[in-house]
Amino acid sequence: MKKHLQHPIFKIITQAAENLQVDAYVVGGFVRDIFLERISKDADIVTIGSGIELAKEAAKLAKISPPKVFKNFGTAMLQYKDWEIEFVGARKESYRKDSRKPIVENGSLEDDQNRRDFTINALAINLGTQHYGELLDPFNGLQDLHDSIIRTPRDPAITFSDDPLRMMRAIRFATQLDFSISAETFEGIRKSADRISIISKERIMDEMNKIILSNKPSKGFILLHQSGLMKLIFPEFEALRGTEYVDGKGHKDNFYHTLEVLDKLSQKTDNLWLRWAAILHDIAKPATKRYEPETGWTFHSHEFVGAKMVPRIFRRFKLPVNEKMKFVQKLVQLHLRPIALTEENVTDSAIRRLLFEAGDDIDDLMMLCEADITSKNPRKVKRYLRNFKMVRRKLQEVEEKDRIRNWEPPISGDIIIKTFDIKPGPKVGEIKTAIREAILDGEVEHDFKKAFRFMLKIGKDKGLDAQLDLHDFNDQMLHWYKKKDQQQTELPNGSNNKKIQE
Ligand code: CTP
Repeated sequence: MKKHLQHPIFKIITQAAENLQVDAYVVGGFVRDIFLERISKDADIVTIGSGIELAKEAAKLAKISPPKVFKNFGTAMLQYKDWEIEFVGARKESYRKDSRKPIVENGSLEDDQNRRDFTINALAINLGTQHYGELLDPFNGLQDLHDSIIRTPRDPAITFSDDPLRMMRAIRFATQLDFSISAETFEGIRKSADRISIISKERIMDEMNKIILSNKPSKGFILLHQSGLMKLIFPEFEALRGTEYVDGKGHKDNFYHTLEVLDKLSQKTDNLWLRWAAILHDIAKPATKRYEPETGWTFHSHEFVGAKMVPRIFRRFKLPVNEKMKFVQKLVQLHLRPIALTEENVTDSAIRRLLFEAGDDIDDLMMLCEADITSKNPRKVKRYLRNFKMVRRKLQEVEEKDRIRNWEPPISGDIIIKTFDIKPGPKVGEIKTAIREAILDGEVEHDFKKAFRFMLKIGKDKGLDAQLDLHDFNDQMLHWYKKKDQQQTELPNGSNNKKIQE
């Protein structure tokens, strides 16, 4: 053990404990991570005495600034180089039924280990001079680490009632570490699942996001379902389960389909929000499901209904309601578009529209759509992948030619107002939209001069007389061409668009 306590801070804490005549131990995640060969620079120190005093003494010996003290919790935090060390006095806690706030009393090391969540998190290493480096493992946590098992040190009913968040933590650790949860502990979660209601959404989502960021998030989602937690915290996802049959025709189980997409995508990206887009891409399928005798099962507009559900879900989960949410929303809404483009119907105009709507998120959208191909029919998979290759090639070609991805309208509302000497109002918007549509449809080139001429034509059709001409907008024109040129030079030799990878 000693070799894992090489860092000078441990010797300093030993000396500080000796000066104060108290016992000190390093406990919890830091010790667990030694055995998992994960390097951690966060350590929790438990002392049989005052954690705050020990931290102050350690800071004095290390000649560093005094610790941050959290009087209400009886804890202190020391920053030593890039390490963060938290100090606390050993305690015995009992919790009230209606709250997470514990009633705390001083206790022994055993009391402290006893109140921890899992056997693998209840390991301690002695920092006392006499017994330096000795492992204290009252619940066989080392054996559980070896056997890859998550187990509570006490009766699970007590451990989970003390802090119901631990039910999420059990599933999170099982997913992150690819461990199993002992049968008794899992039964404990099933029995206590209702108690999750007293935990704040933020804390639940912290654990949920850690599950989502694991190598194989489906494991956690299946455990959440089996434990009964999923229907309480994320009923929309639970609703994806199952296959319904009419006239012997069934649809796929969207719960497992979504998890397959999520796992596939997780092999390619660590982007949490892209993973969230996978989780939510079919979320409106239960709400839009219909059986039509001629066509079978349909989920018309599930991408639009799904996109509308995103803000509601984000708000409820206290996830950020900002551009991250908008990104997820956009991907949910567009997730059928690339796959709908086939050799027969892929026109430049369809590609231009997709580029315009997806903008810089086009690569993420393509990644999501590729993961969305989970058909068991190899012929279908082959066809989809072939179409995808073609769509990617086309996206590249059109983007190189037309620069739609970072669209900036060539003709601003201001230019329209000044040219026709009209007041701001709906007419301006109509003209702007007509120009954009004509460019996306390929009727007008994505070019300032051509767009200006087209604007004059539309104005005329609407009975407007132009008071100014192209020369009056020289500055705007030069600015627009300069920007377009800059975008072009960002592409190596103008031939290979880095962001739309094959
Ligand atoms: N702990 C607990 N119950 C909780 C949270 C934490 O018993 N609800 C204990 C565990 O002993 C845990 C330690 O406090 O090891 C530190 O918790 P924390 O820093 O949240 O987690 P780690 O176990 O270190 O794991 P991670 O850093 O992956 O969150």
